[in-house]
Amino acid sequence: MGRQIAIDGPAGAGKSTIARSLAKRLGYIYVDTGAMYRAMALYFLRKGILAEETERIEAACGEADVTIAFENGEQQVLLNGENVNGLIRTEAVGNMASASSVCLKVREKMTELQRKLAQEADVVMDGRDIGTFVLPQADVKIYLTASIEERARRRALEYEQKGITADIEQIAKDIAERDYRDMHREHAPLRQAEDAVLVDTSDMTIPQVEERLLELCKVPENGGKSDFFA
Ligand code: DC
Repeated sequence: MGRQIAIDGPAGAGKSTIARSLAKRLGYIYVDTGAMYRAMALYFLRKGILAEETERIEAACGEADVTIAFENGEQQVLLNGENVNGLIRTEAVGNMASASSVCLKVREKMTELQRKLAQEADVVMDGRDIGTFVLPQADVKIYLTASIEERARRRALEYEQKGITADIEQIAKDIAERDYRDMHREHAPLRQAEDAVLVDTSDMTIPQVEERLLELCKVPENGGKSDFFA
């Protein structure tokens, strides 16, 4: 088993930006688990399924085959063989991913894939339940967060850079709803693992967060083994 870095936190906390650059600097693969839930969500949306139609989601779950490939170190998500990387970064898909990820069948399927990936290489994996559920034995656990206002501001900026008009108040509302749903669902809800380090990025720049995480991910001189029996 390789080294495992688990990064969890709410929507828009900067997990993917930071996890991607951290993985690059450590030479590990980066696994974006949100993208997997988003690919499933795209399948449900294409079928015309609504977020609240839990039974239809459960029934359609088996038809959506989500797999991962790496191209130049970048994760590509395939939905029934189609590369959907360019189609999953919308608010509609994100909201459907949050809604459909409450279904146990969806979670079981994604968790199995994530654990398999973590067995194959050293990984930085980000999501909502990585440190608490998917990789409870991870070597380093980080809970990355920021205030709702700051997260909404960053999301709006991202959209504007892509030429998409963004309503910051609507984004803040969506984020708050998403946080609530992700934190209160029955299976593997978002919460900070007891042994995770909390990093609040509200007043930090990206390079500052990167340095902080790199520091946290350093391999201890004793290789991570307890000194107790030394
Ligand atoms: O990180 P993201 O915004 O791409 O994730 C989209 C949704 O997917 C998120 O709101 C909840 C769900 N998700 C999850 O339930 N568990 C994960 N490990 C990752 C994402």
